[in-house]
Amino acid sequence: MLLEILLALVVGTVIYLFLTKKKEETLPIGDGWWGKGKKPDSEEDATVHPFKVETSESEIKDLHKRLDQARFTEPLEDSYFYYGFNATYLKKITSYWRNQFDWKKQVEVLNRFPQFKTKVEGIDVHFLHVKPSRLPEGRSAKPLLLVHGWPGSVYEFYKIIPLLTDPASHGLSDEPVFEVICPSIPGYGFSEAPHKKGFTSVSCARIFYRLMLRLDFKEFYAEGGDWGSLICTNLAQIAPNHVKGLHLSDVVNTGLGFKHLLSALLGQYFPKLFGFQEEDVQQLFPFWKKMVFKLLMESGYAHIQATRPDTAGCGLNDSPLGLAAYILEKFALWTNLSHEYLEDGGLEKKFTLDDLLTNVMIYWVSGCIVSSMRFYKENLKNGFGTEKHEKLAVYVPTGITSFPNDFIYFPRSWLHPTYVNIVSYNYMPQGGHFAAFEEPELLAADIRQFVKKIEKRSFTK
Ligand SMILES: *[C@@H]1O[C@H](CO)[C@@H](O)[C@H](O)[C@H]1NC(C)=O
Ligand SMILES: *[C@@H]1O[C@H](CO)[C@@H](O)[C@H](O)[C@H]1NC(C)=O
Repeated sequence: MLLEILLALVVGTVIYLFLTKKKEETLPIGDGWWGKGKKPDSEEDATVHPFKVETSESEIKDLHKRLDQARFTEPLEDSYFYYGFNATYLKKITSYWRNQFDWKKQVEVLNRFPQFKTKVEGIDVHFLHVKPSRLPEGRSAKPLLLVHGWPGSVYEFYKIIPLLTDPASHGLSDEPVFEVICPSIPGYGFSEAPHKKGFTSVSCARIFYRLMLRLDFKEFYAEGGDWGSLICTNLAQIAPNHVKGLHLSDVVNTGLGFKHLLSALLGQYFPKLFGFQEEDVQQLFPFWKKMVFKLLMESGYAHIQATRPDTAGCGLNDSPLGLAAYILEKFALWTNLSHEYLEDGGLEKKFTLDDLLTNVMIYWVSGCIVSSMRFYKENLKNGFGTEKHEKLAVYVPTGITSFPNDFIYFPRSWLHPTYVNIVSYNYMPQGGHFAAFEEPELLAADIRQFVKKIEKRSFTK
């Protein structure tokens, strides 16, 4: 009798668990059209056109004229980068830009990778498509979508792409070989800017998803940092069956709850209880100084861009000098916030002026700074935690790389319960916010180990 009751209990529980098992809800894909004026009735032209970055004498002449007429502000005594970009140092950069920087040569560098444009939802989407030049016998390339953020561009990935598409040339013959698709976010660089209001990370994720389908990729990996991290996350929520793995080089989870708040208050004293590692404790505490105050100090730009992007942006779009200061300050400080006490903001510690100015030039020649800033308004206009995607879990296997100098820091335990399936969370020995640009080897290695883990799983399944 007892046995039968027990058996009934077990069967009952199993049925109950089965029936109440949480459905893996996906994010509604929605639809959009971002072209100028009224949407035409005709079907969208789905051709993919080759694209090359071009420049002209008049473009360069115009830039030089503006740089020659630059007007500088005298920095305060002993101010370093503490008040923002040091104007004395900016003078030095301007002189380099005017007299040594060779945009024509950098245009050739940009054209090293094959690029294309195709219309999606009414606007031209620009992307790099880099196929491996050779593949070991019997192996296939793994499609990988790489998505940048602000104030970056596809150029952030120029050093990591060869490591991913041609590992053998870098002494890594047994490693996965990738085929890279690296689009510019609409409104950034050579992708057309949306002409209509409301273009969010979800709209962008849908456009990139449609792009991948158009290129005939039914299954792919996705990697992103900054906005790219949110865009890839949204893509994984829209099309979980198409994204084999989601790799994020920095991540923010706005679906935080009471448990997380409690961990902010007490985690310093009971790290184990809240699932914190030693690294987490070092990064998070004292909480006021290292998280709240730091984010407040560092996020003024985001507030401006989320409220009145067009006003702040018109000066930047009119002055190469203002644009460079605004963009390069981020590359100085988001590599290491202590750089605000250095005379040159530590800008050239990790990057060359050629690389930095190439990124600035992408914003300058495409005139995209205002549309890039608007992305903040579109995504943040209702505040945090209000959008459907922020309340949905992510079921796609996820790998996270945590760079110690990134000003955004999210411990693994704060990513639960949103990211349901974290297969790797690795602390890097060095590096900051612009992971691919600053530490291409470290990031590539982490992507590889993550992908190998997933391939092994699907093989044994
Ligand atoms: C930055 O500004 C300070 C004055 O606050 C000046 O002493 C320093 O030389 C400047 N840095 C550079 C690289 O010129
Ligand atoms: C950050 O920059 C400061 C100032 O240059 C330096 O002392 C410190 O070692 C840097 N931190 C890291 C982790 O690189």
